[in-house]
Order: sequence, then C-alpha cells, then structure tokens
Amino acid sequence: MSPENTTLVYFSPTSTTHTILKEIARGIGKEICAVIDITKPEIRNQNAPEFNNDLVLIGAPVYGGRLPKDAADYFKTIKASGSLAVLIALYGNREFEDALL
Ligand SMILES: Cc1cc2nc3c(=O)[nH]c(=O)nc-3n(C[C@H](O)[C@H](O)[C@H](O)COP(=O)(O)O)c2cc1C
Repeated sequence: MSPENTTLVYFSPTSTTHTILKEIARGIGKEICAVIDITKPEIRNQNAPEFNNDLVLIGAPVYGGRLPKDAADYFKTIKASGSLAVLIALYGNREFEDALL
C-alpha cells in the first residue's frame, strides 16, 4: 500500500508536536500535502475530513498522562478508509502513562 497524500493533524500549544510531526514526515521522505492544526478552536470545531488512501500523522502532547481532552475528542471523529495512521504522543520526559490508549 502506498498512500497518495500525507496530512498532519495535531494539537500543539507550544509547537513541539508540530515540529516533530514535520520532521517525521521529512525523515520518511514524504511531502506534506495538508495540515490540520486543531490547537485552534475554529479548526477543531469543524468536521474532520474523511481520509482515503492517505498517510495521516496524528499528534498531541501528553498532559497529566493523558491526551488533552479537546484533542482526543477530535481524534475520535476522524474517519478513514485505505489509509495509514501514525500516532505520536509528545511528552516532557516525565511519563506518557496512558496517553496512547
Ligand atoms: C498542563 C501540562 C501537563 C503536562 N503533563 C505531562 C505529563 O504528564 N508527562 C510528561 O512527560 N510531560 C507532560 N507535560 C509536558 C508536555 O507533554 C510537553 O511539553 C510537550 O512536548 C508539549 O507539546 P507542544 O509543544 O506541542 O504543546 C505537560 C505539559 C503541560 C503544559
């Protein structure tokens, strides 16, 4: 399977998650086709797109061993078919606990 487009979806108040997602895309040699920055309420209040034959890098920071609720709520609404997702939880070297559950 070779996804056609690469999209970043992230919640990143202080930009580290955004930076890491961009670097992962660069590291695997993928051009970023679209960016959905759900840090902004006006973006995360829109319906998530449906991904078809895409690679989607999905990232958020760990807060208190969990994902921020606004990010987790948005991620639950993402629909996709024939696509690959890579989940990235950025943490501050304390502990990521249950963030990836
Ligand atoms: C409210 C809050 C809670 C956090 N909780 C944790 C935690 O439980 N474990 C951890 O290792 N880092 C924790 N951190 C650090 C963040 O996960 C880390 O700084 C992250 O890279 C920030 O991502 P961003 O730059 O994309 O916003 C916390 C940071 C904040 C602001």
